[in-house]
Amino acid sequence: MVKVLFVCLGNICRSPTAEGLFRDLLRRHGLDDRIAVDSAGTGAWHVGSAPDRRAQAATLRRGIDISNLRARQARADDFESFDYVVAMDRENYRDLRRLCPPGREDRLHLFMDFAPRAGTRDVPDPYYGGPQGFEDVHGLVEEASAGLLDHIRRNLE
Ligand code: 4NP
Repeated sequence: MVKVLFVCLGNICRSPTAEGLFRDLLRRHGLDDRIAVDSAGTGAWHVGSAPDRRAQAATLRRGIDISNLRARQARADDFESFDYVVAMDRENYRDLRRLCPPGREDRLHLFMDFAPRAGTRDVPDPYYGGPQGFEDVHGLVEEASAGLLDHIRRNLE
């Protein structure tokens, strides 16, 4: 089993959206029995909370229900249990780099690096903005998810 962990700041907007979309993508490719997905936040403010209602709504519009997810904080031992620890933006990446045990740095990735043609290195934080921000998250997550899945499949073969 290959294990993927998506990480943002709060684990209530971007990373649960990525978890839901990526899990749906795996199901459609028949790979959900070979690749497992989870998400976490670098911060602890929202631990135990369901995803933000706006993230739930934007995801449900695409037929994906993420209401059952609950926020948790990323831990150093996530770098032992997950093959891919995927940061939503460069700030998350820096925070995770600090959390990462020595020798596990190769497991840390910046999500948008899997979509070099998207023209951005960050999935922008939509929390303080309007509904369009949540739509934008979906576009970026879809692009980077396709690239990440290609990358994992090449390494599965
Ligand atoms: P996320 O969005 O990192 O995509 O889950 C945020 C959610 C909450 C906060 C910041 C970002 N906050 O400061 O509470």
